[in-house]
Amino acid sequence: MRIAVLTESDPAEPRVAAVPETVKKFIALGADVTVQSGAGVSAGVPDADYEAAGATVASSAQDAASDADLVLKVRRPSADEIALLKRGATVVAIMDPYGHEAELTAMAEAGLDTFSMELMPRITRAQVMDVLSSQANLAGYRAVVDGASEYGRAMPMMMTAAGTVPAARVFVMGVGVAGLQAIATARRMGAVVTATDVRPATKEQVESLGAKFVAVEDDEFKQAETSGGYAKEMSAEYKKKQADLVATHIAKQDIVITTALIPGRPAPQLVSEAMVASMKPGSVLIDLAVERGGNVEGAKAGEIVSTANGVKIVGHLNVPGRLAATASNLYARNLYAFVETLIDKDAKTLAVKWDDELVKATNLTHDGQVVHPAFQPKS
Ligand code: NAI
Repeated sequence: MRIAVLTESDPAEPRVAAVPETVKKFIALGADVTVQSGAGVSAGVPDADYEAAGATVASSAQDAASDADLVLKVRRPSADEIALLKRGATVVAIMDPYGHEAELTAMAEAGLDTFSMELMPRITRAQVMDVLSSQANLAGYRAVVDGASEYGRAMPMMMTAAGTVPAARVFVMGVGVAGLQAIATARRMGAVVTATDVRPATKEQVESLGAKFVAVEDDEFKQAETSGGYAKEMSAEYKKKQADLVATHIAKQDIVITTALIPGRPAPQLVSEAMVASMKPGSVLIDLAVERGGNVEGAKAGEIVSTANGVKIVGHLNVPGRLAATASNLYARNLYAFVETLIDKDAKTLAVKWDDELVKATNLTHDGQVVHPAFQPKS
């Protein structure tokens, strides 16, 4: 069983899919691991550390991948990478499948068995494999660090001989995994924190972290959570009431962090241009949903926009990648936990259990076809 770890070909991706700790574990399962030279450099892992863990370092993607049975990546393989892989190879990555049907078809036609880590079901057995959680948690932390660094004032209240510095007011919109970590981080830094979400279960979570919950708590709000624990798209009437409440609150905030997402849909717009215009000069908005259309009107993916009234709207891409070493460690462990279930430990070979619910939920392509029901080519 030959496993290849490739250097991410997208220059915007500094993470790596395996770290020395997981390489050692794969080798203990009977695998030969080849790492493309330089794969870990931007995540702080030099080739020598992979070699010390027992991997072979290959000088090119071709040398690493051409006879690999299993390829580990952070992102979906590019057309050039697909061309290097043998038919029947298995690829596990964050495949970002929504809206990329043509790329899925290309992987199917190349005869690859592909698995998308972000489709992992949120059940207890799969918690250790949950890349959305491991990466969103880091994004929530980093959003506060980025917010604090763009904000020209201090976060905690300070009583000094020269006078008192007030605590920054931080408002977190969307209290999933990223939002909870943002609240906890902003509290640790001494900010006064408020938060909002459309799922009622979040109220208690917000309060247990020492923040204040701000939301329109009407009948629709009480029903706003799906059985899977995600948010529903809210009615136009609810959105209007929510916008009115947010409008008065946001004008008093110093740092706003938005994380609101709805699975399979564009991100809801929560902060309008008028709300941004109502904020004080020097205030900062961090839009973690910018890759999915953004929660803040005027946010631009990959840019920091400065508005006419002196507010910054920060739209960093790949926020977990801004903590590439930590993000790679956690991603690599998620990946190992899943891949271990695809391996027959006695025969030391890949042996995918096609009827396992984790396999069924994450498998995109198999036997030359796109097999995942959510991504069938439209006839
Ligand atoms: P997400 O990334 O899909 O969305 C982020 C947040 O935005 C959610 O809390 C959502 O309710 C909120 N949101 C959506 N529309 C909004 C609006 N109009 N206004 C304000 N907020 C809005 O969510 P994430 O982080 O993936 O978490 C979703 C759920 O999954 C949570 O209940 C979380 O606790 C749960 N979860 C369960 C796990 C497990 O059981 N293994 C693991 C991780 C999370």
